[in-house]
Amino acid sequence: MGRGRYPARLQVSLPPPDVAARYLLIWPGREVYASPESFPPISSPGLFGDDKPLEIDIGCATGELACALAEARPEANYLGVDIALKPLYRAVEVASGRDLPNVRFLQSDMLLAYGRIPVEALRAAYVHFPAPLLRNRQRKTRLVAPALLAQMSRALMPGGTLSFITDQPDLYAELLRLLPATPGLRLRDSAEHELALSDLLKSHYHRRWEAKGRQIIRVELEKR
Ligand SMILES: C[S@@+](CC[C@H](N)C(=O)[O-])C[C@H]1O[C@@H](n2cnc3c(N)ncnc32)[C@H](O)[C@@H]1O
Repeated sequence: MGRGRYPARLQVSLPPPDVAARYLLIWPGREVYASPESFPPISSPGLFGDDKPLEIDIGCATGELACALAEARPEANYLGVDIALKPLYRAVEVASGRDLPNVRFLQSDMLLAYGRIPVEALRAAYVHFPAPLLRNRQRKTRLVAPALLAQMSRALMPGGTLSFITDQPDLYAELLRLLPATPGLRLRDSAEHELALSDLLKSHYHRRWEAKGRQIIRVELEKR
């Protein structure tokens, strides 16, 4: 089974209009690129109309993590972002089924959407199991890139965290290679990790690669 086939095989249906209106934002890439100011800020006031801390799951796929965290922590808001729309239909279905008031999903290329996050608007960001970049056409949307660290250094509040999980040693090495160029972020010791690597955080991909015996690598960066 190839790495990228899970969303392609996913059986989902379009959410009903009222459910989509509550949970789903779709930001066409060309419009975000041409007139970013016509989209709301990625912040709690901008997306939820309140001042709760905001956490963002970048490349959220079916939103397992965002929904689990939103349910476990009603005092915070959660935004799941994915460039692919289909898995977000599943995420919206789950959020709606649990009637979660504190989660939304955004279909966008995160590289275009970064600019809509105000300075220090995020308490935490999660980049778990980003794609390993096998195909040329995926290179432009690559998440493990200088923009990720530069943007998180700007968008996280002091003490805020970027959680990174991968089964790919190359992606881990790339993240560590990029880190010195972003002095605003420091690598936390594993004893300082905000969340244990518990079942709460184990997504479909996490369970899949763990079952295949792959080593799961966890990194947590902190905004200074
Ligand atoms: C392997 S899946 C991981 C899903 C989830 N984080 C997990 O742990 O199970 C990677 C996801 O990143 C999304 N993705 C890739 N590039 C992206 C980008 N530039 N912006 C937003 N999402 C992106 C893909 O569509 C895919 O759903």
